[in-house]
Amino acid sequence: MFSKPIIRVIPPGPKARELIEKHREFVATTTHDPENLPLVIERGEGVWLIDVDGNVYLDFSSSIAVNNLGYPTHDEIKYVVTKMIEVLAHAAGTDFFNPYQIYLAEKLVKISPGSHKKKVFFCNSGTEANEAAIKIARYFTNRKYFIAFIGSFHGRTMGSLSLTASKPVQRKRFFPMLNGVIHVPFPNPYRNPWHIDGYEHPDELVSRVIEFIDYWVLQHYVPPDEVAAIFFEPIQGEGGYIVPPKNFFEELSKLAKRYGILMIDDEVQMALGRTGKMFAIEHFNIVPDIITMAKSLSGGVAPIGATIFRAEMDLETGAHSNTYGGNALMSMVALKTIEVVERYLDNVLSLGKIIKERLYDLKERYNVIGDVRGLGLAWAIEFVKDRNTKEHDIKTRDRVIYEALKRGLVLLGCGKSSIRIAPPLIIDEERIKIGLDILEEAIKASV
Ligand SMILES: Cc1ncc(COP(=O)(O)O)c(C=O)c1O
Repeated sequence: MFSKPIIRVIPPGPKARELIEKHREFVATTTHDPENLPLVIERGEGVWLIDVDGNVYLDFSSSIAVNNLGYPTHDEIKYVVTKMIEVLAHAAGTDFFNPYQIYLAEKLVKISPGSHKKKVFFCNSGTEANEAAIKIARYFTNRKYFIAFIGSFHGRTMGSLSLTASKPVQRKRFFPMLNGVIHVPFPNPYRNPWHIDGYEHPDELVSRVIEFIDYWVLQHYVPPDEVAAIFFEPIQGEGGYIVPPKNFFEELSKLAKRYGILMIDDEVQMALGRTGKMFAIEHFNIVPDIITMAKSLSGGVAPIGATIFRAEMDLETGAHSNTYGGNALMSMVALKTIEVVERYLDNVLSLGKIIKERLYDLKERYNVIGDVRGLGLAWAIEFVKDRNTKEHDIKTRDRVIYEALKRGLVLLGCGKSSIRIAPPLIIDEERIKIGLDILEEAIKASV
């Protein structure tokens, strides 16, 4: 285990440069940013990532909240992988029964909010977990409309993409998607259409959003009894780690209940300890009808997704399925992942306090930081050109990411001009402080 980053050659080193060029030649374009994040990872050790040129970086990204238990994965999960490879990795979990997916489903039902009867649908990714939620909600309610939030990210397959409203490039030329998705403002305390300071006046912000949905949408053009569900992230992830006011979901839930609308909680990025609770929605005191998850459920090993729903919503035989869902190997990996994460929840809450204090201190001292927000080990800082106009400072954000990389810290952007601070849950105080010191040096070098 390393005690600090080691930079042998400024990234991208010669091997990294060569591989990035090859990647560009053979691999489809997705979301890489070789200018600001020219990181070619060869291996991982706990909270450290080692690139192909031998540089050692501290990871504050958890590979977008997947590697919550570090790299390559936790020792107890490695043991499960080797054991299951000897026993059973895959055998049509859709057509044959196996004990492993039952164990996992039982555990997910037990740990998810609400003591009512629930069932679990298994798949391979976040977007698929959301596709299943869309289908279950439509099938159960026989209603067609969905309400989703501006700034949200729910995936990129055509159903989930129709809910996603984070960046225009994600939707450009793909229209038409699923019909009947209505987007409404999210109660972002820092940036909202009413210019309300949501930290000072959270109740006013919540009232405006609820009024927008109830009066402007449901009483003007969308028949409430045709709305199947409201889709939401408890904390918007890709949109910028935006934490809504404490009472927002309770108010939203009251509105949904009044019209018989389901509440679908997309926990793909926040579930399993990221915020210090197993599910981020536990901070907000409501019980959703459907919960979707993926990323961290995998223990950083291989894809798995899950949709947890009220048992009476179950579909009929043949209505929905997929090949790898409930795969034996990944079911046991996910089960062990949950067990290990349970032991780290206190660590997340105490380290979260250290991060919070330090980020607020940085905000005091650097005008380029407009907003700081987060919970547990899910934090973001937003860069602005001017604190009054709140104009996004994308250039500085990108520069900070690269300056941090040069000093041995891996950061990922989010929102339009924010950086997320989302280290693996297994990190300790000393390494958190090392990372935050590098973050400050990177900001200093970028302004
Ligand atoms: C909240 C949320 N939902 C859904 C997704 C889509 O997950 P996947 O990339 O596994 O399809 C993501 C991915 O970032 C996400 O953050």
